[in-house]
Amino acid sequence: MTDRTALIRPVPDSFPLALVRHGRPDIDLGLARAQHREYRRVLEETAHVVHVVPTDEAHPDCVFIEDTAVIVGTVAIIARIGAESRRGETPPVAEYLSRRFDIVEMRPPGTLDGGDVFLLDDVFYVGRSSRTNDDGIGQLRAIAHHQGFPVVTVDVEDALHLKSAVLPIDDETVVVTPRSVDESKLEGLRVLYEHDDERNRFSALPLDERTVLVTADAPVTAASVAAMGHAIVPLDVSEIQAADGGLTCMSIMLR
Ligand code: GLY
Repeated sequence: MTDRTALIRPVPDSFPLALVRHGRPDIDLGLARAQHREYRRVLEETAHVVHVVPTDEAHPDCVFIEDTAVIVGTVAIIARIGAESRRGETPPVAEYLSRRFDIVEMRPPGTLDGGDVFLLDDVFYVGRSSRTNDDGIGQLRAIAHHQGFPVVTVDVEDALHLKSAVLPIDDETVVVTPRSVDESKLEGLRVLYEHDDERNRFSALPLDERTVLVTADAPVTAASVAAMGHAIVPLDVSEIQAADGGLTCMSIMLR
């Protein structure tokens, strides 16, 4: 059986102060916590061993644990998160990952958020975004090449992270928010598009070879995923989305 471990980090009381690109949303803390508990329950029900990193009140965004590290083969790259106020999120994650991986701490002036990186069919795709810069991409590229993985850089034009707008759902397919990234870099992948009426609402996290966790408020886009033969599990994460988060953001998957 595949070893599936998911690292998660509970929602802190300070979560309503999480960084957002636009305005200041009214976040319901109790509902955010309930949605996060449901996320954890789904992971456990799909045979993930869930490891909980303690939450951190000093870091409202710490629930978005994905941004803190990227696993590249036998190496865990500890990110230098693009938002300076979030950089203190990494030490407890690095401590846990050091039990299983060689640790490489990203050096300045590099910046990189894990939300800008995904691995699909043994190729790393990395977003050049407001959070991830060329130096950070260069450091990732050096490690990935050493571990035998090619790296494709994708310009993120209108999204927080690459995975805000390009969601892998299996080994050859991504769901893309139109007009958000340089799609020419996705050549060779099968692309489904987020429905225009659901713009920026679809997010997805593959749970196993067949099952995909999807956001509940993008049913038309989710139906196109289901039409490909995937079993979909809808989850309401409205309060997480209000803080510019999605389904991948809340975990680091170790597989
Ligand atoms: N709230 C997610 C982020 O800005 O990093």
